[in-house]
Amino acid sequence: MAKVEKDFLERKNPTERNFKAKPFMPRKPIPDLGHEKLDSKRFYTQDFMQKEWDSIWKKTWQLVCREADLKYEGSFITHEIGKESFLIVKGNDGKIRAFYNVCQHRGNKLCQIEEGELEIFSCPFHGWKWNNDGSLNSVFAPELYKQFEDGVPVNELGLTEVKLDSWGGWLWLNMDDKSISLKEWLGEYGEHLESYNFEKWELIDYQTFEWNGNWKHAVDAFNESYHFTALHPDMIEFGEGHDVPIELSGPHSRMINFNDTVSEVVKDQDTFTPLREEMMGDQKKGKMADIDEGYTGSAKDLHLYYIEKRRSEEDDIEYYKDMNDEQLIHQYHYFFFPSAVFTNKPEAANVFRYRPHATDPNKCYYDFFILLNNPEGKELPPRPEHKIYRGNGPELYEGAFRGTFPPVFCNVLAQDGSNMETMQWGNKSDSFKGGILCEQEIRLRHFHQTIDKFIEKNAK
Ligand code: FES
Ligand SMILES: [Fe+2]
Repeated sequence: MAKVEKDFLERKNPTERNFKAKPFMPRKPIPDLGHEKLDSKRFYTQDFMQKEWDSIWKKTWQLVCREADLKYEGSFITHEIGKESFLIVKGNDGKIRAFYNVCQHRGNKLCQIEEGELEIFSCPFHGWKWNNDGSLNSVFAPELYKQFEDGVPVNELGLTEVKLDSWGGWLWLNMDDKSISLKEWLGEYGEHLESYNFEKWELIDYQTFEWNGNWKHAVDAFNESYHFTALHPDMIEFGEGHDVPIELSGPHSRMINFNDTVSEVVKDQDTFTPLREEMMGDQKKGKMADIDEGYTGSAKDLHLYYIEKRRSEEDDIEYYKDMNDEQLIHQYHYFFFPSAVFTNKPEAANVFRYRPHATDPNKCYYDFFILLNNPEGKELPPRPEHKIYRGNGPELYEGAFRGTFPPVFCNVLAQDGSNMETMQWGNKSDSFKGGILCEQEIRLRHFHQTIDKFIEKNAK
């Protein structure tokens, strides 16, 4: 057990209530998933990429965008997953639908902009048009088509619709029309996260990074914190990640990272160094450092102080009432197979989404969303433009987030991004005999075993 966990369990006045999110602590035993080596071919072969496309991407729910971003009739976004592009649009009838973004004339990409508002979508090639409910509006010069002599078969030529559903203020799509419902798919972890009332949160930034590694290296890198000590030494100065509670549930998994403490592997547990002052403390006033002047304890125990403080504030800050003591301060990290992560504190959340490249198993897209809990619907500054960034280095992330994300974390992302590249390279070496995973990497083992199960099921 990590030291911070012991302190947490021995804290005074724990809150006993039936919270929606089930606490991690005391830690439950992790199931035995074996200890086989992880074959590295899955990270770079076209063959495995194709299997994943058929068995995973086409069969599972994918997080798309905030429902609130499709405000008006005709509001739309386009969204790419692997080789496909989707058009998500609110029709003039007020209903939001998702379609393959493909012209039914000769297969051009129909809508070639990322977002906007349109009543009619016109293909740039020959001008066939669709209404914003996906029905065919018109074929240009139908008299030129022998097959339309008896009239254009409007019903046959609508855009191809895909399943769309919403949860937590997010829209999700599924290419498999026979799939289970989104609610069923998200299961108990979806219910846990309902405690955050994400519908009331506001997206304040969304940026995409093209990384030179397979999408599964990105999933793996964020699904364990065992690497913090070596790759992100700053992170263990103001949090504990090196031995944390982990749980698995169906295809999904979760872990907790401890905030506002100092990792037990760090020598100085007490001092508020400049880095700790910057990164620890109360964030609800919108800045990182706001450690209470009255606090005289050590840096490692700050989390205990904040649990009590926040609990005492719950009459004023209503959303604390829905959160268990862990959630009040520590970082919940939920992974929904295959590609969405929700990592939250009471006031702010990061959502990550991993997407495969259309053709290259050596590249992926890492989408990064920053949300603020905004229960009163306060007006926030306009969101920066969404861009796709290529390259690496802390400046890239600092430029991308322009102040919405602390510099320390921009540096951490640069470390993760460059590590993707070296992992992709090393996994191809003839000398590499496969990944050896510890129990802190059990979410990776579970993730890859889940992939294998999906592939096996599809092959039948
Ligand atoms: S390909 Fe779209 S109108 Fe011809
Ligand atoms: Fe990392």
